[in-house]
Amino acid sequence: MKYLLFFSFLAIFILSAFQLNLESQDDVIFDGSTNLSVALNYLGAKKPFHEIEYTDEQVRQGEELVKLGRTTKRNGKKTKYVSLHYNCTTCHNVETEDPDLRISDPEARLPFVKEKGIPFLQGSTFKGIVNRESWYNDDYVKKYGEELVGKAHQNLKESIQLCATECAQGRKMKYWEIDAVLAYFWTLEFNLNDLKLSDADFEKLNNEKTDESNHPELVNWLKTFYAQKSPATFYDAAPDKRKGYEGFTGNPENGKDIYELSCLHCHQDGGVSHYILDDKSLSFKDLKRTMFKNSHFSLYQIIPYGTYAIPGHKPYMPHYPKERMNMQQVEDLRSYIEKRAK
Ligand code: HEC
Ligand code: HEC
Repeated sequence: MKYLLFFSFLAIFILSAFQLNLESQDDVIFDGSTNLSVALNYLGAKKPFHEIEYTDEQVRQGEELVKLGRTTKRNGKKTKYVSLHYNCTTCHNVETEDPDLRISDPEARLPFVKEKGIPFLQGSTFKGIVNRESWYNDDYVKKYGEELVGKAHQNLKESIQLCATECAQGRKMKYWEIDAVLAYFWTLEFNLNDLKLSDADFEKLNNEKTDESNHPELVNWLKTFYAQKSPATFYDAAPDKRKGYEGFTGNPENGKDIYELSCLHCHQDGGVSHYILDDKSLSFKDLKRTMFKNSHFSLYQIIPYGTYAIPGHKPYMPHYPKERMNMQQVEDLRSYIEKRAK
């Protein structure tokens, strides 16, 4: 009898705990502060390969590696610089840079980054990079080939390593360093506010998620609020440089923003390049003089092709795919340079 009583109490206890647990599942309310990965995991989306557990210490180390180029190990010793030439933030922002997360449009990006006071760069932002599903896309794979880019295209950790050695012309990063950068990247993941869900969207999400059969559809629906990759289309120099890119009329005001938020980011005195540009007419005269030449000094070549790292001189300039600076914007820059070179 005693035992029976004991077991029935136990059974009630277990059942109610179970129910509590069920209830707490249903009670989860998603709001703006809910991280995207939390919502997607709840809805049963496939977990990304780069999902990791991490500590605050790793986040600190990762942020230092990204912004300062080196960090301190647990024993207090400093690591070697990943790259002697650049930090990751020479070429990448760490904040949202597109007003609409679904579209990679450099003409919409320019006023948006200007407003925020952040630069306009060749590399895509690290904000939300863990929420992407492929990296080094489209023409990066086509032009550089499976061998160099293939693994990185499918895998964020490989992308970090590839960029450290190829883009930043640095050393190979250690596994713990890559994990630290990844930990920092996880702190930059989107939450549902970043996705700009409306009140009606939140209501739909919270209502429909109580029925598990809706989950796959909700996953797909959430993914319509942001791009799962940063697209990259390469383009060529204008065939006739005097004519420039035909069909576009340059706007010097936008050109000024491009010059200041992009070119000067690296070319001002103290930047990563030896080729110094400033706001004086000499800089503009120089750029104008070389504009029509068949040389990498020409705007029409340096923007779509960049420069290469040559032995003995590692800093090079990455080119801009169309989604990072397009032909309209090259014409905008040209018109500003021509205006200021007078
Ligand atoms: C000299 C410029 C430059 C530097 C320095 C640089 N990157 Fe990049 N990175 C690029 C460019 C250009 C791309 C290709 C375009 C893009 O971002 O999608 C890229 C791509 C990436 C990608 C893939 C992004 C995507 O969605 O396709 C990752 C991840 C990355 N870089 C990480 C890093 C890290 C980590 C560092 C520092 C160790 C770094 N990069 C330093 C220029 C640079
Ligand atoms: C992410 C950094 C970065 C950005 C942004 C950038 N450049 Fe460069 N640029 C470089 C580096 C590095 C070199 C290589 C030359 C060197 O080592 O000093 C270079 C080379 C050049 C050269 C050839 C100079 C030479 O000595 O070979 C020109 C011209 C040039 N850039 C123009 C521009 C213009 C115009 C813009 C804006 C549209 C721009 N750059 C944006 C980093 C950058």
